Amino acid sequence: MRASEEFVRELARENKTFWAGRDGRLDPQAPPETLRSQIRYRMRQGVYNELRSVELIAAWIPWVPEREIRDLLPRQLEDEQRHYQLLRRRLREVGEDPDAYEPLPEWQALFDWLVACRQRPTVEKLALFQFAGEAQSCEGFETLIRLARDLDPETSELYRTQILPDEYRHAAIGRQALLLLADTPEQQRRAREACREMNLKVFDAYQAHRSRADRGL
Ligand SMILES: [Fe+2]
Ligand SMILES: [Fe+2]
Repeated sequence: MRASEEFVRELARENKTFWAGRDGRLDPQAPPETLRSQIRYRMRQGVYNELRSVELIAAWIPWVPEREIRDLLPRQLEDEQRHYQLLRRRLREVGEDPDAYEPLPEWQALFDWLVACRQRPTVEKLALFQFAGEAQSCEGFETLIRLARDLDPETSELYRTQILPDEYRHAAIGRQALLLLADTPEQQRRAREACREMNLKVFDAYQAHRSRADRGL
């Protein structure tokens, strides 16, 4: 077995352990009306996050010289653009103006930081966004899909059929990049540190997200 395979499995386990019980954006115990408004808040902020993901991938593509990895990014960019449009359309269907929402500053700062990371080595960038970030998004979407199933079945189906399969593919791009590039102790150290940075920043954004959602802003 390649040294990187065992490392990637271990790092995925570490990330999963970090996230156990830490994504507080939705409260499964909340009364249905509260949960419905938390789901709606996720969608509003989701429109912004998908759009910034497009921008982020576009900014990174010129800075990924490894052709095997770079070749996978244009499709990811297209996926994120499609997710942006799908979520905007769904918000309109439920009677909201998707462009009226003012994104959370903490999410803005997170994406600004990620865009500015473009000059970091590929192993770090892909560990940050695709390997750590997108893998956690998949977990978050699984929860959202489950909790929205009865409250807002159409939205739940949209995420399940049109968004989640793509997000799993994006997380797999991260795995592929690490399998290819995290093959020395130094590269592995960089990948692990990148995951740690990303997890902590995303956790801060999640906490800000929930506290603002609770205030109904
Ligand atoms: Fe997406
Ligand atoms: Fe994605």
